[in-house]
Amino acid sequence: MAEQNSKPAKAWGGVFTEATDALFERFSESISFDSRMYEQDIEGSIAHAHMLSDVGILTKEEFEAIRDELLNIKGTIARGEMVFSSALEDIHMHVEKALTDKLGDVGRKLHTARSRNDQVSTDFRLWIRDAIDKLDALLQGVQRAFVARCDADFDVVVPAYTHTQRAQPVLAPHIWLAFVEKFERDRERLADCRKRVNTLSLGAAACAGTSLPIDREKTAQYLGFERIAANSVDVSSDRDFATEFAYDMAQIAIHLSAWAEDWIWQSTVEFDFLQLPQAYCTGSSIMPQKVNPDVLELIRGKSARVVGNLQSLLVLTKGIPLAYDRDLQEDKEPIFDSFDTISISLALAAPIVAGMKLKRESIAARLDKGYLDATSFMEYLIRRGVPQRTAHGVVGRLVRKGIETGRALAEFPLEELRDACDLVDESVYDYLGAVNAVNAMKSYGSTAPDQVRFQIDSWKKKLAL
Ligand code: ARG
Repeated sequence: MAEQNSKPAKAWGGVFTEATDALFERFSESISFDSRMYEQDIEGSIAHAHMLSDVGILTKEEFEAIRDELLNIKGTIARGEMVFSSALEDIHMHVEKALTDKLGDVGRKLHTARSRNDQVSTDFRLWIRDAIDKLDALLQGVQRAFVARCDADFDVVVPAYTHTQRAQPVLAPHIWLAFVEKFERDRERLADCRKRVNTLSLGAAACAGTSLPIDREKTAQYLGFERIAANSVDVSSDRDFATEFAYDMAQIAIHLSAWAEDWIWQSTVEFDFLQLPQAYCTGSSIMPQKVNPDVLELIRGKSARVVGNLQSLLVLTKGIPLAYDRDLQEDKEPIFDSFDTISISLALAAPIVAGMKLKRESIAARLDKGYLDATSFMEYLIRRGVPQRTAHGVVGRLVRKGIETGRALAEFPLEELRDACDLVDESVYDYLGAVNAVNAMKSYGSTAPDQVRFQIDSWKKKLAL
């Protein structure tokens, strides 16, 4: 980045008699990160110029010259041939300077009825809109990976935990679909955020609009924006569309982190429920036996920065006076960082989900531990007319006996069960044991096999699998 004082390159000038301090110039640049929005900046400028020609501020020839040169500049940047300099501060100034260098006075007309305040907001909205679409596809990829393995895992019964204690037995696909549901809500949140992001800022100019006869409908149409921001002061001060996106990404990070946490402990020797694909694990330099789940630890660990980025945006926009303030330049790096982190995490999650091996035998061998069928037994008694609180007590006492004598509930002889409650008969054994307990389930959204089958099929349809 060039560091020389560079008065002539500035977008202002008239009122200034002093050149910009070199250290301040380096401090104030945003080109090192906002160059990432060059395509959006050029798209926005072409739409703006197009609209200016529609209303007669530019001639058709001037618009075409501007458009063609902007497309050339886009190629130059794409090829990595543009030299970025902190003297030109940001992507907007770089593109405009390149344009004026080529077109002279025609290029100098592009910024008519526009300020960098509505320009930067527009670029950022376009960038986030695109980022939302990319994240949606990545989230869908993870959902597909989970749904795609549901058929193969359909007969696997696993313990569901509450308080990390064995709670009730469920089908493995019921767990997979729990993650699919979470990622679906993440997608819904993004889609909802997209509605507010998809709003035209251009035309607000610096903060008050413009006295020139612009046509914002046209600009919106060219950029595919569904709404036009109705208040120019709001436009130049508003970043809640970005904060909202930061939250949506933080929630995705939290979902990924919780999933990673589950699979980390389930891959330990102590649990031995699953094996992660080795392509995503690392070994140890000193302990030859180690296969470490670093990828999941990093997905869990990196959620911290994504949550931090949300915090940054909230604090950044707290209490800044209307309308635009330069503080707002700090809005982009947290968003870019969250997006990069989440994108890679999601891109890694899909093949890990697809490649994970369930340790079926190891899971099955311990399924009669922990009285996963106690609730099933209790509901059996309830169906026979025993009040819930009473049934709970009966089963609780039997579980205590089982723990003392080292037996599962299904191992109790009928006489002993009848001693506890004389409403019990032979049919009770159809409800004891983890598999029977799963099969006894009925309610909508439960782990009942026909419910899970129904959910798998509807997800397959939804995801076109
Ligand atoms: N580099 C600035 C940013 O990212 C562009 C807007 C500058 N506007 C201004 N009034 N100084 O926010």
